[in-house]
Amino acid sequence: MYAQLWCVCIVVVSALADDQLVNDCILTGGDKKSAAEQALHQRLAPLKNMSFQVSVKNGEDSYMYKFVVCGRVDSSTPSNAGLVQSKTGSADTVIGRINDTHIISGTDWIMLFYKSGDKYDNHCDKESRQAMVMISCNKNTLGAGFTIISEERNKTNNCFYLFEMDSSVACPAEESHLSVGSILLIVVCVLVAVYIIGGFLYKRFVVGAKGIEQFPNITFWQEFGNLVADGCDFVCRSRPRSSETAYRGVGDDQLGEEPEERDDHLLPM
Ligand SMILES: *[C@@H]1O[C@H](CO)[C@@H](O)[C@H](O)[C@H]1NC(C)=O
Ligand SMILES: *[C@@H]1O[C@H](CO)[C@@H](O)[C@H](O)[C@H]1NC(C)=O
Ligand SMILES: *[C@@H]1O[C@H](CO)[C@@H](O)[C@H](O)[C@H]1NC(C)=O
Repeated sequence: MYAQLWCVCIVVVSALADDQLVNDCILTGGDKKSAAEQALHQRLAPLKNMSFQVSVKNGEDSYMYKFVVCGRVDSSTPSNAGLVQSKTGSADTVIGRINDTHIISGTDWIMLFYKSGDKYDNHCDKESRQAMVMISCNKNTLGAGFTIISEERNKTNNCFYLFEMDSSVACPAEESHLSVGSILLIVVCVLVAVYIIGGFLYKRFVVGAKGIEQFPNITFWQEFGNLVADGCDFVCRSRPRSSETAYRGVGDDQLGEEPEERDDHLLPM
C-alpha cells in the first residue's frame, strides 16, 4: 500500500519536473494539434538535440548565436531557450524558446519558429523576441551551415531574427527508382530462374534424367528453337530459298555440293 503511494508520488513529481524542464519542442497553438505539424516534428527527429553556433561582428560588437534543434541550449537552467544570443560583456538574450515552437514546410524546406523569447527593451513595442530558422534541403549533410540572415526590428511589432541552415531532413522523400517496366522484367527473370532450376531438380531427382536431358521440357524447347529459326529464315531472308537455284551461276556448279544438301545434314531427325 505504502509502496504504491510512493510510486504515485514519484510519477507526479517527475511529471512536474518534466513540465519545468522541457526536453523537446512543444508545438503550441491551443488545444487542437495539427497533424501536419506533428509529422514535421517527427521529420526533425534525426536533428534533435544537435547544437549549432555562428559568430557575427556588428561594428565593435561581436555576437554569438547558439541554436539547438528541439533541445535546450543550456540544459542546466529551466529557461527552455532553444536559440540564444551572447554578446561579449553582457548577459545572454534568449531569442526563442522550445516550449513555443511552430513548424511549417514546403517542397524542399522546413521552417522552425521558436517564439516567447526575451522581450525587446525598446524596439518592436517591447514584444517577445522570436527566431525563424529556415532549414533547406541538402542531401550531403545531416546539419550544417547555420548562419544568421538578418534581424528585423524596424517594425512596430512582429519582429524576428532570421536564420538558415542545410539538412537532409528537409529533402523530399525519394521515390522508388524502379519503374513498372523494370519490376516486370525482374518478375519475368525470377520466374524463368524458378522454371529452369525447379525443372532441372525435378528431372534430375524425380525423373532421373542425365546430361542435357535434365533441362526442363527439352524436346519442346528444341522444337521451339527450330520453329523460331524457320520463322527468322522466312521473315528475314531477302530471297526465297527455292528461287536460289534460278540465280545460280556457272561457278556454283563447280563447287560441287549444293547448299541445300549441306543444310539437310543439320536437321535433327
Ligand atoms: C541533449 O544534450 C544535452 C547536452 O548537450 C544533454 O544533457 C541532454 O541529455 C540531451 N537530451 C537528449 C534528449 O538527448
Ligand atoms: C516557456 O518556458 C518559459 C520558461 O520556463 C516560461 O516562462 C514560458 O511561460 C513558457 N512558455 C510557454 C508558451 O509555455
Ligand atoms: C533597420 O534599420 C536600420 C537603420 O535604420 C538599418 O541599418 C537596418 O538595415 C534595418 N534592418 C532591416 C532588417 O531592414
